[in-house]
Parts: sequence; structure tokens; C-alpha cells
Amino acid sequence: MIGKLNHVAIAVPDLEKAAKTYRETLGAKVSEPHAIPTHGVTVVFVELPNTKVELLHPLGANSPIAKFLEKNPDGGMHHMCFEVEDIIAARDQLKATGARVLGDGEPKIGAHGKPVLFLHPKDFVGTLTEIEQV
Ligand code: CO
Repeated sequence: MIGKLNHVAIAVPDLEKAAKTYRETLGAKVSEPHAIPTHGVTVVFVELPNTKVELLHPLGANSPIAKFLEKNPDGGMHHMCFEVEDIIAARDQLKATGARVLGDGEPKIGAHGKPVLFLHPKDFVGTLTEIEQV
């Protein structure tokens, strides 16, 4: 069902420092920060030949990654995102296996303007998992 790894998201306490690490130490192509108020994050996109890394920093009071950073003050991997062809079909197939879809179960428009859903980490080997229709 899942296709390509679209991105790995890393929550970071210091966005500038994290971007510098990817740009200078690792020699990657790194975007300018993009504020996405509807998702409560500021994102820096790291473009790799085969996928992306997204550096996420909390934006606003109710950021969904604030709690994660409280528990992981140095930052850490927050989620992985896999591409699917049909997000509704994927959701229904996953729900039929008993997997928990977060939120109200309806796809939301994600950071790339495409529909996404998040799946409960306890059902996916301890990793918050995002699916995105491409
Ligand atoms: Co994501």
C-alpha cells in the first residue's frame, strides 16, 4: 500500500542551528524557514536526492510538537511520511485492520498542500506515521 518515503520529520529546539547542521556539516540543500500557522510549526525543508527531511519548530501557543520537545529537549525524530495513491482507500484499509487514525479521521491538507492523515504510533512500531496522497 505505501509507496515512497516522502519525508522524515525532526522536531528541533533551535531551527537555525539545525538548518546549519544540515547545510554546513552534512552539506545538504536546505530551504529558508516556512511558517505554517495552520499546523503550528515553522518548517525548514532539507532536499535529499531520494527524499526530504523536515526540521520542525513550534509556532504559536498550541503547537502539536511543543509537548514532544518538552519530553525530548534536544529534539528528535517526530514522524515519518509515506506516500499513498488514494488516501481514503488507504485509511479504510488501515482502519479495517484495527489501526487508529488520529483526529477525526478525515484527511487534512498537509505542509505540501496535499491530503494527509496521521496514524497512532502504538499501532506502527512506536513511530508516529503520516500518509500523504501524492
Ligand atoms: Co509530515
